[in-house]
Amino acid sequence: MPDNNPHQSKIYSEFSHLYDKIFERVFFPRILRVIDSLRIPRGARVLELGVGTGLSLCAYPPHADVTGIDLAQDMLDQAGDKIAENGWTHITLRQMDALHLDYPDDSFDFVMAFHVVSVVPNANQLMDEARRVCRPGGKLVIINHFRSPRRWLRSLVDLVDPVTRHLGWRTTLGIDELLNNTAVEIEQQYKTNPRSLFTVLVARNEKELAAVG
Ligand SMILES: C[S@@+](CC[C@H](N)C(=O)[O-])C[C@H]1O[C@@H](n2cnc3c(N)ncnc32)[C@H](O)[C@@H]1O
Repeated sequence: MPDNNPHQSKIYSEFSHLYDKIFERVFFPRILRVIDSLRIPRGARVLELGVGTGLSLCAYPPHADVTGIDLAQDMLDQAGDKIAENGWTHITLRQMDALHLDYPDDSFDFVMAFHVVSVVPNANQLMDEARRVCRPGGKLVIINHFRSPRRWLRSLVDLVDPVTRHLGWRTTLGIDELLNNTAVEIEQQYKTNPRSLFTVLVARNEKELAAVG
């Protein structure tokens, strides 16, 4: 059983009851649009890392087999309430560390990480784990804010980074740093609105099929 109170999930744990009130309006429309655009096929195995309170869950088609994991049990409890209220039988939740996934190689067709790669202490390790459990040719789908290419904005954001780090997330993570040495092919990189702080990345997992036996 993972320790559910390390720093990066502690704040989410403590404020889990407020999370939807604060973030639903900002995050949900983009998540819905991105999941819709994937046209997830029947029977697809989907893993969402850092699923939180399950803001995304209603966006998944019931013909997919969806698993959400998160380190913070209080966040998962909120997601569990949504599953119970809606009678969703295609969604399973587990408390787990995204940096140490308890799944065999090639277990999923899609691995999602929405607003989580800058929260974990090691974004590259999250990517390695995401790639490991995703089948060759499967999709990694990331929504996050990334370090701006504009120098003035970068300098401004660097100033607030010590504060946000203290709260539990980084503002300085760049797309290059995230994808450093990661064998993926970026199929789509876009913003759902030109002024949005958030970028959507859809990447194809470029790896060989794991050896059997
Ligand atoms: C900003 S919230 C995003 C939640 C959800 N994906 C969304 O878009 O609303 C970040 C989530 O990542 C979780 N988290 C932080 N570190 C984690 C880790 N190492 N493994 C799994 N989840 C983690 C937090 O508990 C929190 O629920």
